[in-house]
Amino acid sequence: MNVIELLKADHTLVAGLFRKVEESPDSEHPAIFTKIKAELDAHAHIEETLFYPKLKADGNKNLVDITLEGIEEHHQMKMFLKEIAALTGKADEFEPKLKVLIEDVEHHVKEEEGKMFPLVETQFKADVLDKLGADMEAEKTKFKGSHSKAAAGR
Ligand SMILES: [Fe+2]
Ligand SMILES: [Fe+2]
Repeated sequence: MNVIELLKADHTLVAGLFRKVEESPDSEHPAIFTKIKAELDAHAHIEETLFYPKLKADGNKNLVDITLEGIEEHHQMKMFLKEIAALTGKADEFEPKLKVLIEDVEHHVKEEEGKMFPLVETQFKADVLDKLGADMEAEKTKFKGSHSKAAAGR
């Protein structure tokens, strides 16, 4: 998978979890949120460590600006993820925050798929996108492995 296919597959998976939240009773939301958080943490990690730095280094001004905005959106998203994780059992705060997280992530994904990725596809060669995809897939496996081990050891 090249990097764009990899990232879009992640986006689709998370969108599926968001739909699950909308279609299930509040009592099931904490368990779904745990999955959402694990996916978004891993996705943000590979974008921030490998994808965004490449775009900032080799993209044009327009692409760099969109990337910088993306980094700020990640910052907000990660704060939200931490806050929501601490609110389990407090549905009054958990539910509205989860709703806003979903809206924010949907906006961010729309920017990436609608603006960022088309620019990436015109500014980077196919072999660069393939290599990034392979590196990021490996990094994601590593990240998820170390985090699930940490969770199991608690
Ligand atoms: Fe993304
Ligand atoms: Fe992102």
